[in-house]
Amino acid sequence: MGRLDGKVAFVTGGGRGIGAGISGVLAREGASIAIADIDLDNAAKTAAELRARGTKAEVIRCDVTSVDSARAAAEQAVSQFGQVDILVNNAGVVGDHIGGGLITLEDWDSCYEVNLKGIWVMSQALLPHFRERGSGKIVNIASIAGRKGGAGLAHYSASKAGAISLTQSLARDLGRSNINVNAVCPGLLWTDMWRHLEAMIGRDDTPEVVDRRAYFEGYIRQNCPLGREQTPEDIGMAVAFLASDDARNITGQSLNVDGGIELN
Ligand SMILES: NC(=O)c1ccc[n+]([C@@H]2O[C@H](COP(=O)([O-])OP(=O)(O)OC[C@H]3O[C@@H](n4cnc5c(N)ncnc54)[C@H](O)[C@@H]3O)[C@@H](O)[C@H]2O)c1
Repeated sequence: MGRLDGKVAFVTGGGRGIGAGISGVLAREGASIAIADIDLDNAAKTAAELRARGTKAEVIRCDVTSVDSARAAAEQAVSQFGQVDILVNNAGVVGDHIGGGLITLEDWDSCYEVNLKGIWVMSQALLPHFRERGSGKIVNIASIAGRKGGAGLAHYSASKAGAISLTQSLARDLGRSNINVNAVCPGLLWTDMWRHLEAMIGRDDTPEVVDRRAYFEGYIRQNCPLGREQTPEDIGMAVAFLASDDARNITGQSLNVDGGIELN
């Protein structure tokens, strides 16, 4: 018996990295998974892995920045699965530059569009369905970068602070509709996103780093009380809790899963 038996989860950006990890844990807990992504190749791979383990999983084309795409994806999920119980707003981007003087308007816009507006757009797309069913769980993937301003990461940090604030507002707005809205703030995970960020180190106004993995590990040693990196599975377990009935009286909260890097 899993905590999410009979439930259907819609995971944006579910094709790789943290989204794939979340999908795996929710599936382990008994949920069927709609993998909603703009990258259909990765989504197909993740879906195949889930199906091989006996989970019902479908790939759904979805760009969370587009109202039309989000609505179409929500409709497709409801028609293919019959219902959606859980929305995980995980899709995110970090932009192509770091460093205060180098962040471009395109970086700013992409972080705002995907990391913040995307949560709003996708939540609105599934809201009528949740209201009709009389319940729903929304879990937003923010970041510890949203807990305080980050040097060189203004665009990303501001979008993630917005995601934490939006989680609180949606929780207040939707509580009477029996919809819980919470967030998870991941710490440091060695995914494609971090590797993308690392690729900018040395290129932009940051010091030259020869061994990127060593830099990542050194940063964790210096900043993380538990002294270890986080994994997509760690984030998935927090999402599974917040999406389950165990968390039925929790809403508007943002939970750090970061080994203690940030304490509020
Ligand atoms: N990796 C980390 O250390 C870290 C730390 C804190 C927070 N996060 C957050 O966790 C989430 C997942 O990060 P990740 O490291 O797995 O990143 P990733 O880049 O590996 O994966 C992001 C996924 O989102 C999808 N995506 C991007 N734009 C989209 C759009 N417009 N519509 C639908 N899907 C879209 C991508 O195709 C990809 O599958 C993001 O919100 C990220 O900001 C990551």
